[in-house]
Amino acid sequence: MSSIAESTTDIIPFSRLVRERSAKSHRETEGASFMGDLLAGRAGRDDYVALVSQHWAIYDALEGAEPAMRAVPLVAPFLSPALTRLPTLEADLAFLIGDDWRDRLELVPATVEYATRIREVAAEWPAGYIAHHYTRYLGDLSGGLHIGEVLARQFGFGTNGVGFYLFDQIADPSAFKVQYRGQLDAAPWPAGEQERVVDEVLRAYDYNTRIFQQLGTSTLAA
Ligand code: HEM
Repeated sequence: MSSIAESTTDIIPFSRLVRERSAKSHRETEGASFMGDLLAGRAGRDDYVALVSQHWAIYDALEGAEPAMRAVPLVAPFLSPALTRLPTLEADLAFLIGDDWRDRLELVPATVEYATRIREVAAEWPAGYIAHHYTRYLGDLSGGLHIGEVLARQFGFGTNGVGFYLFDQIADPSAFKVQYRGQLDAAPWPAGEQERVVDEVLRAYDYNTRIFQQLGTSTLAA
Protein backbone atom coordinates (compact mmCIF):
# COMPACT_ATOMS: atom_id res chain seq x y z
CA MET A 1 0.00 0.00 0.00
CA SER A 2 1.29 3.48 -0.79
CA SER A 3 2.35 5.88 1.94
CA ILE A 4 0.01 8.50 0.41
CA ALA A 5 -2.99 6.28 1.05
CA GLU A 6 -1.81 5.62 4.58
CA SER A 7 -1.35 9.27 5.41
CA THR A 8 -4.73 10.09 3.84
CA THR A 9 -6.52 7.63 6.10
CA ASP A 10 -4.71 9.17 9.07
CA ILE A 11 -5.95 12.68 8.34
CA ILE A 12 -9.48 12.18 7.02
CA PRO A 13 -12.07 10.47 9.26
CA PHE A 14 -12.70 7.03 7.83
CA SER A 15 -16.44 7.64 7.37
CA ARG A 16 -15.64 10.62 5.17
CA LEU A 17 -13.00 8.71 3.26
CA VAL A 18 -15.45 5.89 2.46
CA ARG A 19 -18.14 8.33 1.41
CA GLU A 20 -15.80 10.33 -0.83
CA ARG A 21 -14.09 7.33 -2.37
CA SER A 22 -17.40 5.66 -3.15
CA ALA A 23 -19.22 8.77 -4.43
CA LYS A 24 -18.62 7.85 -8.08
CA SER A 25 -19.84 4.28 -7.52
CA HIS A 26 -22.89 5.64 -5.73
CA ARG A 27 -23.69 7.88 -8.68
CA GLU A 28 -23.40 4.89 -11.02
CA THR A 29 -25.75 2.81 -8.86
CA GLU A 30 -28.16 5.69 -8.46
CA GLY A 31 -28.04 6.34 -12.20
CA ALA A 32 -28.95 2.79 -13.22
CA SER A 33 -32.13 3.16 -15.23
CA PHE A 34 -34.04 0.38 -13.44
CA MET A 35 -34.48 2.46 -10.27
CA GLY A 36 -35.25 5.59 -12.27
CA ASP A 37 -37.89 3.71 -14.26
CA LEU A 38 -39.42 2.31 -11.09
CA LEU A 39 -39.51 5.72 -9.40
CA ALA A 40 -40.88 7.49 -12.47
CA GLY A 41 -43.72 5.01 -12.89
CA ARG A 42 -42.28 3.49 -16.09
CA ALA A 43 -41.97 0.03 -14.50
CA GLY A 44 -44.63 -2.34 -13.29
CA ARG A 45 -45.54 -4.15 -10.11
CA ASP A 46 -43.63 -7.24 -11.33
CA ASP A 47 -40.46 -5.19 -11.56
CA TYR A 48 -40.93 -4.01 -8.01
CA VAL A 49 -41.55 -7.59 -6.84
CA ALA A 50 -38.33 -8.62 -8.61
CA LEU A 51 -36.44 -5.94 -6.68
CA VAL A 52 -37.90 -7.05 -3.34
CA SER A 53 -36.89 -10.62 -4.18
CA GLN A 54 -33.25 -9.57 -4.73
CA HIS A 55 -33.34 -7.65 -1.44
CA TRP A 56 -34.53 -10.76 0.35
CA ALA A 57 -31.52 -12.77 -0.84
CA ILE A 58 -29.10 -9.97 0.08
CA TYR A 59 -30.50 -9.51 3.60
CA ASP A 60 -30.78 -13.24 4.12
CA ALA A 61 -27.00 -13.36 3.64
CA LEU A 62 -26.29 -10.20 5.68
CA GLU A 63 -28.55 -10.97 8.61
CA GLY A 64 -27.94 -14.72 8.51
CA ALA A 65 -24.31 -13.93 9.34
CA GLU A 66 -25.20 -11.61 12.23
CA PRO A 67 -25.08 -14.15 15.06
CA ALA A 68 -21.51 -15.07 14.08
CA MET A 69 -20.56 -11.42 13.56
CA ARG A 70 -21.82 -10.48 17.04
CA ALA A 71 -18.95 -12.52 18.45
CA VAL A 72 -16.37 -10.43 16.56
CA PRO A 73 -15.41 -7.32 18.61
CA LEU A 74 -14.60 -5.23 15.51
CA VAL A 75 -18.03 -5.87 14.00
CA ALA A 76 -20.34 -6.05 17.03
CA PRO A 77 -20.75 -2.24 17.55
CA PHE A 78 -22.21 -1.89 14.04
CA LEU A 79 -24.99 -4.41 14.59
CA SER A 80 -28.36 -3.17 15.75
CA PRO A 81 -31.70 -4.97 15.90
CA ALA A 82 -33.30 -1.69 14.75
CA LEU A 83 -31.76 -2.27 11.32
CA THR A 84 -33.06 -5.81 10.83
CA ARG A 85 -34.84 -6.05 7.47
CA LEU A 86 -35.44 -9.75 6.83
CA PRO A 87 -38.81 -10.08 8.65
CA THR A 88 -40.18 -7.00 6.87
CA LEU A 89 -38.96 -8.30 3.51
CA GLU A 90 -40.66 -11.62 4.18
CA ALA A 91 -43.91 -9.86 5.08
CA ASP A 92 -43.60 -7.72 1.93
CA LEU A 93 -43.09 -10.82 -0.22
CA ALA A 94 -46.03 -12.63 1.38
CA PHE A 95 -48.19 -9.59 0.60
CA LEU A 96 -46.86 -9.14 -2.94
CA ILE A 97 -46.53 -12.75 -4.09
CA GLY A 98 -48.47 -14.88 -1.63
CA ASP A 99 -47.62 -17.39 1.08
CA ASP A 100 -45.72 -19.55 -1.42
CA TRP A 101 -43.28 -16.71 -2.17
CA ARG A 102 -40.26 -18.85 -1.29
CA ASP A 103 -41.05 -21.22 -4.18
CA ARG A 104 -41.50 -18.35 -6.58
CA LEU A 105 -38.41 -16.23 -5.91
CA GLU A 106 -36.33 -15.47 -8.99
CA LEU A 107 -32.82 -14.16 -8.50
CA VAL A 108 -30.61 -12.54 -11.11
CA PRO A 109 -26.98 -13.80 -11.31
CA ALA A 110 -25.51 -10.65 -9.68
CA THR A 111 -27.70 -11.20 -6.61
CA VAL A 112 -26.46 -14.76 -6.24
CA GLU A 113 -22.85 -13.54 -6.52
CA TYR A 114 -23.52 -10.71 -4.04
CA ALA A 115 -25.05 -13.02 -1.43
CA THR A 116 -22.20 -15.50 -1.92
CA ARG A 117 -19.65 -12.74 -1.42
CA ILE A 118 -21.35 -11.51 1.78
CA ARG A 119 -21.28 -15.04 3.21
CA GLU A 120 -17.66 -15.43 2.14
CA VAL A 121 -16.45 -12.27 3.91
CA ALA A 122 -18.52 -13.09 6.98
CA ALA A 123 -16.73 -16.43 7.18
CA GLU A 124 -13.23 -15.26 6.32
CA TRP A 125 -12.83 -11.52 6.76
CA PRO A 126 -15.17 -9.80 9.26
CA ALA A 127 -13.95 -6.27 8.35
CA GLY A 128 -15.23 -6.96 4.84
CA TYR A 129 -18.62 -7.76 6.33
CA ILE A 130 -18.70 -4.19 7.72
CA ALA A 131 -18.23 -2.87 4.17
CA HIS A 132 -21.39 -4.69 3.08
CA HIS A 133 -23.26 -3.73 6.22
CA TYR A 134 -22.42 -0.05 5.68
CA THR A 135 -23.28 -0.04 1.98
CA ARG A 136 -26.72 -1.54 2.45
CA TYR A 137 -27.97 -0.09 5.72
CA LEU A 138 -26.66 3.46 5.35
CA GLY A 139 -28.13 3.49 1.86
CA ASP A 140 -31.46 2.22 3.17
CA LEU A 141 -31.44 4.97 5.78
CA SER A 142 -30.64 7.61 3.14
CA GLY A 143 -32.14 7.52 -0.35
CA GLY A 144 -34.08 4.39 0.62
CA LEU A 145 -36.55 6.28 2.79
CA HIS A 146 -37.54 8.54 -0.07
CA ILE A 147 -37.67 5.60 -2.48
CA GLY A 148 -40.09 3.78 -0.17
CA GLU A 149 -42.45 6.75 -0.07
CA VAL A 150 -42.47 7.15 -3.85
CA LEU A 151 -43.04 3.43 -4.45
CA ALA A 152 -45.85 3.24 -1.90
CA ARG A 153 -47.58 6.10 -3.73
CA GLN A 154 -46.84 4.59 -7.12
CA PHE A 155 -48.34 1.21 -6.41
CA GLY A 156 -50.96 2.30 -3.87
CA PHE A 157 -49.49 -0.02 -1.24
CA GLY A 158 -50.00 1.93 1.99
CA THR A 159 -47.42 0.30 4.23
CA ASN A 160 -48.03 -3.28 3.03
CA GLY A 161 -45.42 -4.29 0.48
CA VAL A 162 -42.99 -1.50 1.36
CA GLY A 163 -42.19 -2.47 4.97
CA PHE A 164 -38.55 -2.84 3.96
CA TYR A 165 -38.26 0.93 3.66
CA LEU A 166 -39.85 1.69 7.03
CA PHE A 167 -37.50 1.65 10.00
CA ASP A 168 -40.04 1.90 12.78
CA GLN A 169 -37.41 1.51 15.48
CA ILE A 170 -35.29 4.39 14.16
CA ALA A 171 -36.99 7.68 14.97
CA ASP A 172 -34.18 9.85 13.62
CA PRO A 173 -32.31 8.26 10.68
CA SER A 174 -29.92 11.22 10.38
CA ALA A 175 -28.86 10.87 14.02
CA PHE A 176 -28.49 7.10 13.53
CA LYS A 177 -26.22 7.69 10.53
CA VAL A 178 -24.10 10.18 12.48
CA GLN A 179 -23.64 7.59 15.22
CA TYR A 180 -22.83 4.88 12.64
CA ARG A 181 -20.22 7.11 11.01
CA GLY A 182 -18.73 7.71 14.47
CA GLN A 183 -18.38 3.94 14.83
CA LEU A 184 -16.63 3.72 11.46
CA ASP A 185 -14.20 6.39 12.67
CA ALA A 186 -13.62 4.83 16.10
CA ALA A 187 -13.25 1.17 15.05
CA PRO A 188 -9.82 -0.29 15.82
CA TRP A 189 -9.02 -1.12 12.19
CA PRO A 190 -5.94 -3.26 11.76
CA ALA A 191 -3.19 -1.64 9.67
CA GLY A 192 -4.06 -1.42 6.00
CA GLU A 193 -7.62 -2.58 6.61
CA GLN A 194 -9.34 0.71 5.78
CA GLU A 195 -8.12 0.57 2.19
CA ARG A 196 -9.39 -2.97 1.79
CA VAL A 197 -12.74 -2.01 3.29
CA VAL A 198 -13.10 0.89 0.86
CA ASP A 199 -12.40 -1.53 -2.00
CA GLU A 200 -15.05 -3.88 -0.65
CA VAL A 201 -17.58 -1.01 -0.50
CA LEU A 202 -16.85 -0.32 -4.19
CA ARG A 203 -17.40 -4.00 -4.88
CA ALA A 204 -20.73 -3.86 -3.00
CA TYR A 205 -21.86 -0.90 -5.12
CA ASP A 206 -20.86 -2.80 -8.22
CA TYR A 207 -23.08 -5.74 -7.26
CA ASN A 208 -25.97 -3.34 -6.71
CA THR A 209 -25.43 -1.64 -10.07
CA ARG A 210 -25.28 -4.98 -11.85
CA ILE A 211 -28.43 -6.16 -10.11
CA PHE A 212 -30.25 -3.07 -11.42
CA GLN A 213 -28.83 -3.69 -14.90
CA GLN A 214 -29.84 -7.35 -14.87
CA LEU A 215 -33.30 -6.58 -13.51
CA GLY A 216 -33.67 -3.98 -16.22
CA THR A 217 -32.91 -6.42 -19.00
CA SER A 218 -34.68 -9.43 -17.49
CA THR A 219 -38.01 -7.83 -16.67
CA LEU A 220 -38.48 -4.40 -18.25
CA ALA A 221 -37.42 -5.62 -21.65
CA ALA A 222 -39.63 -8.68 -21.46
C1 HEM B 1 -32.22 5.69 -6.95
C2 HEM B 1 -31.39 5.18 -6.09
C3 HEM B 1 -30.73 5.95 -4.98
C4 HEM B 1 -30.92 7.24 -4.57
C5 HEM B 1 -31.89 8.26 -5.10
C6 HEM B 1 -30.00 7.46 -3.47
C7 HEM B 1 -29.87 8.65 -2.77
C8 HEM B 1 -29.02 8.88 -1.74
C9 HEM B 1 -28.88 10.13 -1.03
C10 HEM B 1 -29.67 11.40 -1.33
C11 HEM B 1 -27.93 9.96 -0.08
C12 HEM B 1 -27.38 11.03 0.85
C13 HEM B 1 -28.10 11.10 2.15
C14 HEM B 1 -27.35 11.96 3.16
O1 HEM B 1 -26.50 12.77 2.80
O2 HEM B 1 -27.62 11.79 4.33
C15 HEM B 1 -27.49 8.59 -0.17
C16 HEM B 1 -26.54 8.05 0.64
C17 HEM B 1 -26.13 6.73 0.56
N1 HEM B 1 -26.53 5.80 -0.36
FE1 HEM B 1 -27.87 6.06 -1.82
N2 HEM B 1 -29.29 6.31 -3.24
C18 HEM B 1 -29.73 5.38 -4.14
C19 HEM B 1 -29.29 4.09 -4.25
C20 HEM B 1 -28.37 3.51 -3.42
C21 HEM B 1 -27.96 2.13 -3.48
C22 HEM B 1 -28.51 1.07 -4.45
C23 HEM B 1 -27.03 1.95 -2.51
C24 HEM B 1 -26.25 0.71 -2.16
C25 HEM B 1 -26.81 -0.42 -1.93
C26 HEM B 1 -26.85 3.23 -1.84
C27 HEM B 1 -26.00 3.44 -0.79
C28 HEM B 1 -25.87 4.64 -0.11
C29 HEM B 1 -24.99 4.82 1.04
C30 HEM B 1 -24.08 3.78 1.65
C31 HEM B 1 -25.16 6.14 1.45
C32 HEM B 1 -24.49 6.80 2.65
C33 HEM B 1 -23.17 7.43 2.27
C34 HEM B 1 -22.51 7.97 3.53
O3 HEM B 1 -23.02 8.92 4.08
O4 HEM B 1 -21.49 7.41 3.93
N3 HEM B 1 -27.68 4.13 -2.42
N4 HEM B 1 -28.16 7.95 -1.18
